Amino acid sequence: MNNKMKALIIGGNGSLGKAFQSSLEKRNYEVCNTYHSNKISENNSYSLDLDSSELEIDKSLEIIRNNFGVPDLLIIASGTACYNPLNKTSNEDLNHTYNVDLIGPVRVIKYFLPYFLERKSGIIHVVSAIAGVMPAVKNMSIYTSAKFGLVGFVRSLATELIGTGVKASVSCPGGIKTNLPDNAIGDKESLIKFFQQYGKSFHEPNEISELILDKLDAREVLIFPTESAKKLFEDNLAKPFWT
Ligand SMILES: NC(=O)c1ccc[n+]([C@@H]2O[C@H](COP(=O)([O-])OP(=O)(O)OC[C@H]3O[C@@H](n4cnc5c(N)ncnc54)[C@H](OP(=O)(O)O)[C@@H]3O)[C@@H](O)[C@H]2O)c1
Repeated sequence: MNNKMKALIIGGNGSLGKAFQSSLEKRNYEVCNTYHSNKISENNSYSLDLDSSELEIDKSLEIIRNNFGVPDLLIIASGTACYNPLNKTSNEDLNHTYNVDLIGPVRVIKYFLPYFLERKSGIIHVVSAIAGVMPAVKNMSIYTSAKFGLVGFVRSLATELIGTGVKASVSCPGGIKTNLPDNAIGDKESLIKFFQQYGKSFHEPNEISELILDKLDAREVLIFPTESAKKLFEDNLAKPFWT
């Protein structure tokens, strides 16, 4: 009989998602992941579009639940970045970002929650960003507000789950060396430049996945940002002021 713990990574083919995959496999988890546009593995890899209707999201998750089962650990490591001043942001980009970065993750958690509650166990972890605790990067108001939303959502959900055996936490990493800017929408060239400017001080994806998994057993709901990430953002990025 296979007694391995099961983990489902939403966005498992992204840069951070892949780091989670290898960190979890090292920790002896049986891992299943979702992709949206880039399928990378034939095994335990399922299509999911977070920017689709509730019905379609539920249909995709139903396939995962039927084939893989209800995971012990659900990690939301997907996301998109929208870089543009608000007055240049199209409604399409706005809707897409909120769907992928906030509403989609909430729907995924809502889908699995009844199964976790019935089983009286389950760990939910959502990757937000440093932008979810400090609005540090200009021209990212939609991304930032989605990430703030995720932090508020998980902090509130965690209190709702007290005594149920189900835990929820959210992490707010600072910069990570990933493909996020290449996959961004809006003025992606400027975000790429931003990553080139500060990227040397960013964390490697596997540092972040390891740190998060190490902290999952602790009772903390809000994980990160690291001190070095906080310092980088506080020291270098534009501070808003009234003029
Ligand atoms: N990079 C950073 O500096 C940084 C810092 C803090 C937090 N984060 C957060 O870390 C998380 C992972 O991002 P990353 O840096 O690893 O970027 P990434 O390499 O671009 O990965 C993004 C992931 O999200 C998935 N995704 C995109 N659109 C989707 C959609 N419509 N439906 C379902 N999945 C979708 C992608 O799947 P496909 O490839 O198949 O489209 C991919 O798996 C994000 O939440 C990001 O905000 C990143």
